[in-house]
Amino acid sequence: MPKEKKLAIYPGTFDPITNGHLDIIQRAVSLFESVIVAVTTNPSKAPLFTVSERVNMIEEATSKLENVTVENFSGLLMHYAEKRNADVIVRGLRAITDFEYEFQMALVNRKLAGDIVTVFLMPNEKYTYLNSTIVKEVAKFDGDVSSFVPQNVHENLIDRFKNE
Ligand code: PNS
Repeated sequence: MPKEKKLAIYPGTFDPITNGHLDIIQRAVSLFESVIVAVTTNPSKAPLFTVSERVNMIEEATSKLENVTVENFSGLLMHYAEKRNADVIVRGLRAITDFEYEFQMALVNRKLAGDIVTVFLMPNEKYTYLNSTIVKEVAKFDGDVSSFVPQNVHENLIDRFKNE
């Protein structure tokens, strides 16, 4: 299938990126001409990694993927997406529990910028139970998260929690 000549933004907090996020990025790359992974802060969550640490980890984990760039943004996603001339926002949907929040966000974003379409992609079902919060909790208490995250993220998690 030829790729859509479109610019897609995959936004999130990515604190840190997991194999589930990577799965979504790979699917987005197969559909769209270029993909920006856009990292931002969520004021209601205390982050483990700074935005620039998160950007670096994603850059390393996606270095072999063509047409993927990683950026950070602050403020409203749709203002950033308009500035970037994006066509599509990509979000991952793991389970029905994600749906209500994602649906609300997509509809608000459509009100803010009706030309930019939100597309939902489902990761491989082996990642449906994964999220960054669970990964951080398991890593904090010395659990093995090597199959949940890229290797560089695994090393960063070990390093971050080693003195606790
Ligand atoms: O990885 P997350 O935490 O599920 O990502 C949520 C994110 C960052 C995509 C969302 O909170 C967001 O877009 N934040 C930027 C501020 C914004 O535009 N808020 C209005 C969304 S309706």
